[in-house]
Amino acid sequence: MKKFKEDFLWGASSSAFQIEGAWNEDGKGESVADFNSFKLSNKQADTTVASDFYHHYEDDIKLMKKMGMKAYRFSIAWSRIIPDGDGEINQKGIDFYNRVIDCLIKEGMIPLVTLYHFDLPLALAKKYNGWENRACVHAFSRYAQTCFQAFGDRVKYWQPINEQNLMIRVDERMNMWDTPKEDCERVRAQMDYHMFLASAQAINNCHEMISDAKIGPAVSSTMTYPATSRPMDVWAAKMNDNFKTNYALEMYCYGEYPGYYKEYLNKMDIAPKTEPTDTDILKNAKPDFIAVNYYRTLMAGYFPIDEEHPFGTRVRDIDFDLAGYFKIMPNPELKASEYGAQIDPTGLRILLNEYHRQFRLPMIITENGLGTADKLTSDGEVKDPYRISYLHDHIEACYDAIQDGVELFGYCPWSAMDLLSSHQGFKKRYGFIYVDRTDFDLKDLKRIPKDSFYWYRKVIKNNGLSD
Ligand code: BG6
Repeated sequence: MKKFKEDFLWGASSSAFQIEGAWNEDGKGESVADFNSFKLSNKQADTTVASDFYHHYEDDIKLMKKMGMKAYRFSIAWSRIIPDGDGEINQKGIDFYNRVIDCLIKEGMIPLVTLYHFDLPLALAKKYNGWENRACVHAFSRYAQTCFQAFGDRVKYWQPINEQNLMIRVDERMNMWDTPKEDCERVRAQMDYHMFLASAQAINNCHEMISDAKIGPAVSSTMTYPATSRPMDVWAAKMNDNFKTNYALEMYCYGEYPGYYKEYLNKMDIAPKTEPTDTDILKNAKPDFIAVNYYRTLMAGYFPIDEEHPFGTRVRDIDFDLAGYFKIMPNPELKASEYGAQIDPTGLRILLNEYHRQFRLPMIITENGLGTADKLTSDGEVKDPYRISYLHDHIEACYDAIQDGVELFGYCPWSAMDLLSSHQGFKKRYGFIYVDRTDFDLKDLKRIPKDSFYWYRKVIKNNGLSD
């Protein structure tokens, strides 16, 4: 029997734009996530309805309770609270999240709240080009303080920004469609820096405003294997982790970029503009934990600066290659999901140990899961043994990491229920609870617990794995 600590937070995750729907109801403003590629290609798998959590939240939370969840990680839509990002506060938005939080607490669940999960208010993108402008830092700070004030009496776990280190590479989330190509990396570096500043400010404000709250960054975690045992490939694999995740963790935890990252910014002549007071804000912000989002691992080899790259240089992609440092390639040792995510529970154990060694902070898994096209049988069931196997092996890796000495206090896989995938609509499902709709047909949005729901319920009840 692999048992976890009594107070281990078994839960599940979601985010506002992927689950709520009601994109323009009760005063909500538009966000950049309402205008993603699905919308532009005119499919229905968009944020207008999503899983319609906005109208089903009570029943959905009851189902989560039935599964035994002790915690629920979700995000607040900034544009529901402040429709244009930095103007008037929308009381109806606050009322909605008050209802959700109260309902969770009534059902005995702990709310873990993310303030910003890929859904910048569109008005800020239009007015300031979003994070390029320091005005966006002030807007976020005011929004965060509004949330701490409104919900801080009941919400004690916060994450300022979800996966900034991944989002910064996704042009549609950063509203960078029209940025001239030659200016992209400079703008990106400025946006990234402003988000770090906003995050630090939120950590400081949270500590000041809610004395018993804990707050920490949610990162998209990368674990990279070297393509060979050649020293330069080993270095390349490390640099891939450094450029994709570790530079961000170092900024969150130590308040400054590491040397290799500063050098890169200077070499490219894209170092962000800073102000003298920033240093104190960044250095004072001490996260209480790291929220780890983990799905897969990567493999990388050295990418000499003058070699013609066989996979094509893709500096804008989340799995970008960087000439002079690393190029990504498939790992022949691992099986991948149908969407190309290389499944690797051991990678999770390695990564948790690495973060523990370097940052000595408690950690919680806030995302982990398998996105597939689940099928509803004619008997109205969803058989998803592949998901059970994926989650089982990753929970086992968490257990092993804890035995190694890692301080892990919770596991919240992605996702509680089916929701809009960030890139593949409703055909790619992650949930324990099936939502009966497709990309093109809303059907009745009926909620149907999958086999994995009953399996996870047992895991939670047993407080661990029995095999
Ligand atoms: C994470 C995001 O990066 O991955 C989620 O925080 C996202 O919002 C999840 O849904 C899975 O990715 P995708 O593209 O399969 O939805």
